[in-house]
Amino acid sequence: MKKYAVFGNPIKHSMSPLIHTYFAKHSGIELTYEAILGTIGKFELEAKEFLNKGGKGFNITLPFKQEAYNLADIKSDIAKITGSVNTISIKDGLIYGDNTDGSGFIKDIKNNIGYDIRKKKVLILGAGGAAMGIIPNILYEQPSEFKIYNRTYEKAKKLCNKFLDIGKLDIVSLEDLKKNKFDIIINSTSAGISGTEFFLPKNFFENDAICYDLSYGAASNSFKNWANKNKLTFYDGLGMLLEQAADSFYIWELKRPVITDELKNILLKKL
Ligand code: ATR
Repeated sequence: MKKYAVFGNPIKHSMSPLIHTYFAKHSGIELTYEAILGTIGKFELEAKEFLNKGGKGFNITLPFKQEAYNLADIKSDIAKITGSVNTISIKDGLIYGDNTDGSGFIKDIKNNIGYDIRKKKVLILGAGGAAMGIIPNILYEQPSEFKIYNRTYEKAKKLCNKFLDIGKLDIVSLEDLKKNKFDIIINSTSAGISGTEFFLPKNFFENDAICYDLSYGAASNSFKNWANKNKLTFYDGLGMLLEQAADSFYIWELKRPVITDELKNILLKKL
């Protein structure tokens, strides 16, 4: 039986085992997929142990995505650009590292929501690992403007510099937000995890702007409340979670699973 897993810390909350087991069952593929609590400082050792015991591949979530990048012998272009890996696969004895977060985000926005980022004015809130994972893919879509606001200026600056070769990402201060009219506001901050309320100035968005939170469930409620208060359409990151999982599944099995409403409903009940 083919063995897959997800490494993270914490990992108890992960819905990846459920998603991949569902994908496998509905694709007629036999595999196992387990959640592994990685030990901080021992990721490489534990990941290699999993592979030595016959593991065919695994996903990586916080906080090991950068270590997974270092583990890979061969890195995909997007993994190189982001310096972060969420999917490891084995081919001909070599460890391949890829990142499906950005492609998963774009697929959800484009195919599920039916929104085209091209020529739109895009704002991303937050400048951590989650932002880093999707910024290049957004740049590839060629928005007319792409700005980042983060509480800590230096972290936003670092991301702008990191992606200079791909496209233009400008920093905007809280004070200057109101000089803009964004079409789409993406929340990548972890503020919602602690339930922090969103304090943002008014009127820095078009009336028909959409809001997208990379988190889902309770962690996306703060931003959802803010979007609702401002009468903006809101989407959480559940669709992205499913799409990035489907892209990982494709890397391993060369078969793209179907994301059904049944699966979405199973996940919604778990939130
Ligand atoms: P992740 O990998 O999930 O992106 P991270 O790397 O810790 O997590 O980044 C979290 C982001 O959320 C950071 O940009 C952080 O802002 P700082 O760079 O100023 O730390 C942002 N963030 C977290 N809590 C926040 C809050 N209460 N208000 C605003 N931004 C917050």
